[in-house]
Amino acid sequence: MKFFIDTANLDQIREANDMGVLDGVTTNPSLMAKEGISGKENCAKHYLTICEIVDGDVSAEVIATDYEGMIKEGMELAALHPQIVVKVPCTAEGIKAIRYFSEQGIRTNCTLIFTVGQALLAAKAGASYVSPFVGRLDDIASDGILLVENIVKMFRYYCYDTEVLAASIRHTQHIIQCLEVGADVATCPLSAIKGLLKHPLTDSGLKAFLEDHRRVNEGK
Ligand code: E4P
Repeated sequence: MKFFIDTANLDQIREANDMGVLDGVTTNPSLMAKEGISGKENCAKHYLTICEIVDGDVSAEVIATDYEGMIKEGMELAALHPQIVVKVPCTAEGIKAIRYFSEQGIRTNCTLIFTVGQALLAAKAGASYVSPFVGRLDDIASDGILLVENIVKMFRYYCYDTEVLAASIRHTQHIIQCLEVGADVATCPLSAIKGLLKHPLTDSGLKAFLEDHRRVNEGK
């Protein structure tokens, strides 16, 4: 399973990349706003900086909601850098835009996926990725991981090439559950990625190893 980081924060992107396990980055308009990045030029500059830090796909989302606007914005985003994947919402206009981009050889990530049916439409239109939102479904007492599992099964059964990019990951256990159901990618906050490292037996085991080593080598 590939690991993407779900942020527009450059320090966090650098930290995850330095761990040596990062395969890509996803952003959305809210994450860009959180970093205070506004205006077309600044956004473009920021996406380019991310592409320089990480050797992998970088999702950049269109703001337009009409077909023509999505095409114009998506073409501009895609022209920025070969690593850019144009992120498009799962609406009727969005699905049409994904079909257009796919015919132009431009890779897309269909976002705001909450049903298997939406994922099917995106895959049929030629999306490179679909992003089912795990945490937001869990938030309303629905089962986000079950949605990921059902999309994975449907894509395998019908041999779609579209990758399942589990999004809205809130914690480390979500990552483990994504592994269990065969997601192709999980895009996660840095805290959830770091959580994979943690185990008290690792900490106590290392402490004991170092104490034993010191006792014999330093006579303590
Ligand atoms: C990423 O592609 C999504 O936009 C993001 O994971 C949404 O996460 P949230 O539900 O925590 O806002």
